[in-house]
Amino acid sequence: MRHRVRGPLPLPEWAREGAMVPVADRIQRLPHVLSAAQFDRPLLEHLFERADALSAGPVPQAAAGKIMASLFYEPSTRTRLSFESAMLRLGGSVIGTEAAHIFSSSIKGETLEDTVRMVSAYADVIVLRHDQEGAAGRAAAVADVPLVNAGDGPGEHPTQSLLDLYTIGKELGRIDSVHVAMCGDLRHGRTVRSLTRLLLLFDQPRLTFVAPAVVQIGDDIKSELDAAGITYCVVNTLDDLESVDVVYQTRIQKERFTDAAEFLAAQAALRIDATFMRRLSKNAVILHPLPRVAEIATEVDADPRAAYFRQAGNGVAVRMALLEMLVS
Ligand code: NCD
Repeated sequence: MRHRVRGPLPLPEWAREGAMVPVADRIQRLPHVLSAAQFDRPLLEHLFERADALSAGPVPQAAAGKIMASLFYEPSTRTRLSFESAMLRLGGSVIGTEAAHIFSSSIKGETLEDTVRMVSAYADVIVLRHDQEGAAGRAAAVADVPLVNAGDGPGEHPTQSLLDLYTIGKELGRIDSVHVAMCGDLRHGRTVRSLTRLLLLFDQPRLTFVAPAVVQIGDDIKSELDAAGITYCVVNTLDDLESVDVVYQTRIQKERFTDAAEFLAAQAALRIDATFMRRLSKNAVILHPLPRVAEIATEVDADPRAAYFRQAGNGVAVRMALLEMLVS
């Protein structure tokens, strides 16, 4: 079935309908995946159950005969390859371009909207990564097939937050009442913004934002937390995290800085190493959307609490569950 969605994005209305909307209807109303704000708890639970079933196998060929187009205007390893792997495992096919800003007609001056109109005719689902916040929304407004935001500049990365939340559930055995320390580049980190929005759907989330002032969490997320009545801490160092359940570390995003000195100072500020791990609770886990640069020392990798490679592996099952919904 072709989803024809034009004009304003069909997000907030149905999200507000809450638990009254059966899961099947929620899926119908999810033609594009642009923001973590589109999800609610029953839909997440449904997706995570499907991800469990799909990773246990066998995998139904739900995408047989369907084509996924991946359009990546910004670098990616995990997101693009795990989406492609998920589509292939579901029996579908994949077309696309990485470095789309140079390898597509974008280099000739074609607008994103025109490219997406064309690709809509070639594929049944589009996965888009772009360096501009809001690009996925612009693309979805002209897409005739479901479009998935795989990162829009410092905006959102909803499918990363799905696999982050799934990993928290798998690693800790619960999502309610978890205490998550969001660390690193909280200003540019789209994964932190999306994950915070998903955590708000669960009972009593406890959040600590850990970053130097120059990349601290923005007022938009703080206002959402205030509106939801969630108290949170904002700190500058990794010093007092002994009791957290999850340390969600992120990379300082060099490519989004204009001032080199500011970048270097931010990068030097927070580093997880063996000394930090000795202080951390034995039941806590370290997550990271990856790529990791210097913010987690490689000596931490062998620690069983270092869950970031398991987290990246979960991306395939979660993206299979999402694609199954979107194309079948
Ligand atoms: C992140 C991204 O691209 O937002 N990585 C990812 O998708 N797994 C984080 C980053 O680039 O630092």
